Amino acid sequence: MYNLLKGKKGIIFGALNQHSIAWKTAQRAHEEGAEFVLTNAPAAMRMGELDVLAKKTGSQIIAADATSIDDLENLVERSMEILGGKIDFVLHSIGMSVNVRKGKSYTDPNYDFTTKGWDVSAVSFHKLLNVLYKKEAMNAWGSIVALTYMAAQRSFPDYNDMADNKAYLESIARSFGYFFGRDHKVRVNTISQSPTPTTAGTGVKGFDGFITYSEKMSPLGNATALECADYTISMFSDLTKKVTLQNLFHDGGFSNMGVSDAVMERFE
Ligand SMILES: NC(=O)c1ccc[n+]([C@@H]2O[C@H](COP(=O)([O-])OP(=O)(O)OC[C@H]3O[C@@H](n4cnc5c(N)ncnc54)[C@H](O)[C@@H]3O)[C@@H](O)[C@H]2O)c1
Repeated sequence: MYNLLKGKKGIIFGALNQHSIAWKTAQRAHEEGAEFVLTNAPAAMRMGELDVLAKKTGSQIIAADATSIDDLENLVERSMEILGGKIDFVLHSIGMSVNVRKGKSYTDPNYDFTTKGWDVSAVSFHKLLNVLYKKEAMNAWGSIVALTYMAAQRSFPDYNDMADNKAYLESIARSFGYFFGRDHKVRVNTISQSPTPTTAGTGVKGFDGFITYSEKMSPLGNATALECADYTISMFSDLTKKVTLQNLFHDGGFSNMGVSDAVMERFE
């Protein structure tokens, strides 16, 4: 390993189990010398798996519902106490659509579910940035990353209202990122990841067919959760200090493809 995050302190949201992108990111951050606090929604804690990761990485866990300003304030204050200073990096790795969970179609959703979904998946990022900004909790040249998917730019019917949530999330990164850069010299970006077999990923209808299609369309193949963790580590490191307000595709080239030989073969 390269000591890319030696001496850096962070907060990592969204490690649910060993498949989670946030779980792999926490493991890689630990290997690169970072100290961090792990957080997830109180309901996710009940599974108990996060304790295993905390032990392995020497981290403490603070429960926080990312839609609650009170929880976020408590999380940020306590993290600074535990870590002994301001924060250098934050990963927002949170997504949930109630319409997807309940099998509602995109064309006829339950709008209360829609509201809950965008609060959890997008507005939570605004709330987090707001709390970090007001408390001046980030060190200069710190880095904040949220994870997203390309359905924010293109139509993927089964991604349902998560497509709208991701478009909203990416816009928040650009809009809030301006103020964070101007006032605190902190960068804010989204990483747009390939389909990945996690709890959230496999919850999308038709996931198995879609991940195979994506693999065949991408010249480098799909990016794995561990590869996403590696890319995220580079975004937290001092090697990417002037990258901000970006949506960064980490998808083996999928987002710029029209068609590949492997896909054409099936139609000839
Ligand atoms: N898996 C994929 O195919 C894929 C592709 C591109 C982007 N992403 C994004 O990556 C991120 C991480 O997802 P993942 O694939 O690792 O799945 P995951 O299911 O392991 O992680 C999702 C996390 O969101 C957390 N969460 C849900 N509601 C919350 C709340 N109110 N407060 C705090 N946390 C809450 C869950 O507890 C869970 O830990 C998500 O933003 C997801 O949309 C996933």
